Amino acid sequence: MTQDERKRAVAQEALRHVVDGAVLGVGTGSTVDFFIDALATQRQRVRAVVSSSTRSTERLRAQGFQVLDLNEVERIPVYIDGADEIDPAGAMIKGGGGALTREKILAEVAERFVCIVDASKLVPVLGAFPLPVEVVPMARELVRRRLQGLGGQPRLREGLLTDNGNQILDVSGLRIDRPTELESLLNQIPGVVTVGLFARRGADLALVGSDQGVQQRDFG
Ligand code: A5P
Repeated sequence: MTQDERKRAVAQEALRHVVDGAVLGVGTGSTVDFFIDALATQRQRVRAVVSSSTRSTERLRAQGFQVLDLNEVERIPVYIDGADEIDPAGAMIKGGGGALTREKILAEVAERFVCIVDASKLVPVLGAFPLPVEVVPMARELVRRRLQGLGGQPRLREGLLTDNGNQILDVSGLRIDRPTELESLLNQIPGVVTVGLFARRGADLALVGSDQGVQQRDFG
């Protein structure tokens, strides 16, 4: 089975977690792209969607979905999104696609976060994937120095401005034994918009695509 086949399988499985007649939260990434395409075959099931990125919004609109502004929505029963890494407690690194801020906002509103990944994303400890940190451009060097002080090696994601007009530092060299504490600590640095650690609000459920099929991990 190829990685794309595993992603397509979890995307298909995620359809079972869509709440009929409700507004659905939709994340960003190649796994989510497969999910959007699968959902398009059952479009009448969702009332509307809220999206975490321009990329997903365009794909959703092209498939005929009504995409709402989050400010028009009070409840999102389920949010479906991928991850770059996920640990045994359901804490994640996200933001490889640059959409971490809107993803974190949607995750906060959502009553249930369903994470869809292939098995390569399962890790015992987060941190091999460089941690994305979205920063206000004028604070970039300040934040870089603070991250270096914590033992990280930040690298500017060249040529990228986020959907919010900010920059991303990808931080390698961090061994993230205590993701909740690190998330809180990094959130305190002035100029940090969003840390790509999703530990304070992790996944409730992970659907994991492997050669043995799709496995379910419940963190609720
Ligand atoms: C987007 O910003 C990320 O948080 C994605 O969820 C992550 O990069 C997963 O992407 P893939 O599904 O392409 O691996």
